Amino acid sequence: MKEAIIKIKAEKEQSYPVLIGENLIDNAYQYIKEYTKANKFLLVTNEKVEKLYGELAENKNTYKIILPDGEVYKNMQMLNKIIDKAIEIKLERKDAIIALGGGVIGDMAGFAASIYERGIDFIQIPTTLLAQVDSSVGGKVAVNHKYGKNMIGNFYQPKLVLADTKTLKTLDERQFKTGLAEVLKYAFIEKSCQAEKDYKLFEFLEANISKIQKRDTQIIQELIYICCSLKSSVVNKDEKEKGLRAILNFGHTYAHAIEKLTEYNKYTHGEAVSIGMKMVFNLALNIGYINKEYYERCIQLITKYKLKTELEEEFNKEIFYESMKNDKKVSNGEIKFVIPIKEKEVEIINKIDKNNIIQGI
Ligand SMILES: NC(=O)c1ccc[n+]([C@@H]2O[C@H](COP(=O)([O-])OP(=O)(O)OC[C@H]3O[C@@H](n4cnc5c(N)ncnc54)[C@H](O)[C@@H]3O)[C@@H](O)[C@H]2O)c1
Ligand SMILES: [Zn+2]
Repeated sequence: MKEAIIKIKAEKEQSYPVLIGENLIDNAYQYIKEYTKANKFLLVTNEKVEKLYGELAENKNTYKIILPDGEVYKNMQMLNKIIDKAIEIKLERKDAIIALGGGVIGDMAGFAASIYERGIDFIQIPTTLLAQVDSSVGGKVAVNHKYGKNMIGNFYQPKLVLADTKTLKTLDERQFKTGLAEVLKYAFIEKSCQAEKDYKLFEFLEANISKIQKRDTQIIQELIYICCSLKSSVVNKDEKEKGLRAILNFGHTYAHAIEKLTEYNKYTHGEAVSIGMKMVFNLALNIGYINKEYYERCIQLITKYKLKTELEEEFNKEIFYESMKNDKKVSNGEIKFVIPIKEKEVEIINKIDKNNIIQGI
C-alpha cells in the first residue's frame, strides 16, 4: 500500500491521507475508523457502483442511498435526496458521509457533507481513475445548475481518501482513458506544481505505456501516488484557486467549450481535455512559446496512449471562441490560458490574441 499525504494550508492546518492499494475496500471500515469518530455512516453511491462494490462497503452502522448513474443527475434534486436521507436516518454532527463512486458521486456527496448540520466528516472512496487521480483530492465539491457545470458548490476537504485499484479493473476502456487524460495533464505541468520532489512523471509515462494500458497494479498505484502528490503540492499553496491552482486547468479552457458545444453528451471530460491539450500545444507552438521538438514529444505521448486529439466535427470558430469567453473562469472578458512555456512548465496568461486562440482550434 502507498500513502500520499495531502496537506492543505487553508484557514487552519489540516491534512489527510490518500491510501492507495489493492483490495483496501474489503477492509474499508478498519481504515475509516482511524480518521473519524462517527458512529453512523451514510454511504452515497449509484446503481452501477452499488452492484459492483456496494456489498464490500457494508457495515452494521451504515445506511445507503443509491442514486441514478450519470452527470445529468449531479443536481440539486439529488443533493436534496441525500440530505433527506441523512435527516431520516438521524445522522448527527459527529457522523460521516462516505462517497463510493466516480467524480459525480464524490462531488455531490462531498457537497452534502459540507452543508449538512454545517459540515460533517466526509470520506472518499473513489472508483474511477479520474476520481483517484483528481476529483477526490483537493476539496472542490459541487452540483451542476442548468446554466452551468459545478455552479453551486463549496471547498470541503475529506478526512480520508481510500483509492482501491481493484475497482479500476471494471472500468470500461473509455472511462479509463478519461482518467489517463488528467494523468498526462500532470506530466505537462509537473514543474509548475512546485513539488518538493521531481517525480519525472513524463518519463514514467513514456517508459510504462503498455503496463499502464494493461492496468498493472503496482504501476497504477505509483501513478496515482504521483498525481495526488502533485495535486497536493498545488492545492497546499492555493486551496481556493486565487492563482497557482488554475494550472490544473491545463487544456481545460478549450475542453470546456468542446463539452458545452456538444451538450456534454458526445465526448467524455477526458476526451475533451486531451483534444484541448493538443489545441493549447498548437497555440503555444504557433506563438513560439515552445519549440517543435517539445511539441512533438508531448503530442507523441498523447497519441501513444491512444487518447483523442481531434474533434470529430467542424465547429464555427467564432461560436467556439464566444463559448470560451463565457466560461466561468473568465474574468473581465479575458480568457485565462494555461500555456506551456518550457518542458513541463506552464504559465497562466490572459492576454492571448483572439486570432491565435482561434488558430489553435
Ligand atoms: N472536484 C474536483 O476537483 C473535480 C475534478 C475533476 C472532475 N470533477 C468532476 O468529476 C465528474 C467526472 O467524474 P468521473 O469521470 O469519475 O465520472 P462518473 O462519476 O460519472 O463515472 C463514470 C462512469 O463510470 C461508472 N463507474 C464508476 N466506478 C466504476 C467502476 N469501478 N467500474 C465500472 N464503472 C464505474 C460510473 O457509474 C459512471 O457511469 C464530473 O462531474 C466533474 O465535474 C471534479
Ligand atoms: Zn478535468
